[in-house]
Amino acid sequence: MPSMLEVSDLEHTYTGQQEHTAIGGVTFDVRAGQLTCIVGPSGCGKSTLLRCLASLIRPSGGEVRMHGEPVRGVPEDLAVVFQDYGRSLFPWMSVRGNVEFPLRSGNVPKERRRERVRQTLEWVGLSGAERKYPWQLSGGMQQRVAIARALACRPALLLMDEPFASVDAQTRFELEDLLLRVRAEQDTTILLVTHDIDESVYLGDRVLVLSETPATVVADLPVDLGNERDQIGTRESETFVHLRGEIARMLRGGGGHERPGGTGTTARDTGSETESTSEDERADAEPESLQVEQGSPAREAAE
Ligand SMILES: Nc1ncnc2c1ncn2[C@@H]1O[C@H](COP(=O)(O)OP(=O)(O)OP(=O)(O)O)[C@@H](O)[C@H]1O
Ligand SMILES: [Mg+2]
Repeated sequence: MPSMLEVSDLEHTYTGQQEHTAIGGVTFDVRAGQLTCIVGPSGCGKSTLLRCLASLIRPSGGEVRMHGEPVRGVPEDLAVVFQDYGRSLFPWMSVRGNVEFPLRSGNVPKERRRERVRQTLEWVGLSGAERKYPWQLSGGMQQRVAIARALACRPALLLMDEPFASVDAQTRFELEDLLLRVRAEQDTTILLVTHDIDESVYLGDRVLVLSETPATVVADLPVDLGNERDQIGTRESETFVHLRGEIARMLRGGGGHERPGGTGTTARDTGSETESTSEDERADAEPESLQVEQGSPAREAAE
């Protein structure tokens, strides 16, 4: 499959009073149709990376190519779901208005726009809410609207920044499965940032693990769980449990700039293999909670 996205030695330093290098040379490729999850310590530079990929900020160094061409300006066939979806919806617009909004700037005729909105809201299970306003919806429903708005453009590349972080566990599972369904139907290429290790393994075809800030790629792990995933069965499988432990160990170990334990490969080694981990190491690493939390070494190091 051809590369949809090529990221080469991408760097970004915020300048001014708060000068800070958030990305320190990130290189990876994304194949068309692939769902890539990105995990890393809090504050390491995940949102900065997505903003650079979307051309919302101009990176200090390196290059981003989409469809083989250098990206200059926000690509038309790219959509972003932001970390803070509550603030990304227009409160004065109905659900329909919000989802239709990005289509208005294109040349899509009104009738086709309306049909597109109707179909997209059906995908995300919000057919009955077209005339409601965001403030009349639950957090999970608002997030569905934000996802619908991104999908309405039928983007070739969808960037999502912790899209399910603010919803309850049950809604989160539903939204994860919704994303997998839409992705299977639309063949959309997706890059999704999450702080939830389990989510990264459940959703991803691969997981990129980032270091502490400035972020670099410390591992690129293929997820061999097939296309059919199930919230209970998949999460109980040996492959799933092994991989979540492996990622947690990297992040708890500080997510340093050295490749931890020799595991993982550079992100350009597509079809990369991970070195096997001994049973003892696996048992030691079995974490209680697999989120990058306050007080974890990776988190402390990042602060
Ligand atoms: N506008 C800015 N000016 C200066 N520094 C910034 C700016 N925006 C972000 N940073 C710094 O860059 C680093 C990376 O920020 P970023 O938001 O990309 O991290 P993140 O991995 O998305 O964090 P989180 O997990 O909390 O969402 C942080 O240390 C942050 O303080
Ligand atoms: Mg962020």
